[in-house]
Amino acid sequence: MSHYKTTLANEAATLALGKCLAHALQPGLSIFLHGDLGAGKTALTRAMIHAAGHSGHVKSPTYTLVEPYLIRLQERNVNIMHFDLYRMSSAEEFLDAGFREEFNEHNICIVEWPEKADGVLPTPDLNIFLRVAGDGREVELHALSDKGIACLALLQFAPNL
Ligand SMILES: Nc1ncnc2c1ncn2[C@@H]1O[C@H](COP(=O)(O)OP(=O)(O)OP(=O)(O)O)[C@@H](O)[C@H]1O
Ligand SMILES: [Mg+2]
Repeated sequence: MSHYKTTLANEAATLALGKCLAHALQPGLSIFLHGDLGAGKTALTRAMIHAAGHSGHVKSPTYTLVEPYLIRLQERNVNIMHFDLYRMSSAEEFLDAGFREEFNEHNICIVEWPEKADGVLPTPDLNIFLRVAGDGREVELHALSDKGIACLALLQFAPNL
């Protein structure tokens, strides 16, 4: 399965999706989150990072552009790099900051507003599109690699999705 679409009726459903996706996290994975302001990109990311074992605050890295979270995964220390590129002015800024190097086989990269770094970002394993739909959200997930397909495979067995 390389494509999955569902409705997230409320924030709890977004959190359930994040929790489920957290089980598929592995070093080197990258996920891009698409959607308008307030679509739920940070809410989903926060749920993933918490479910991955980070117990502290997960803030929106709007001004810092990236926030790292060190987690323990498969008996290794792994950084989840949470990017929010909304305020980035150019793709050059992305390169100058050394962000491209963070996309490697060790880190997990989750990116809000990847459109801002079009052309300099590598292809993700998973593209997630969030849309406001009534009081809830619609979500579409597109896997672009075997790692991405493994993420989607988990969703079939999620009770709340
Ligand atoms: N499935 C859902 N149904 C209704 N509300 C939701 C749902 N999921 C998340 N929300 C709410 O939508 C808002 C989304 O905010 P969030 O900061 O996650 O958006 P965002 O996509 O990261 O926006 P930005 O582009 O500004 O970073 C939050 O108030 C959250 O509680
Ligand atoms: Mg956000």
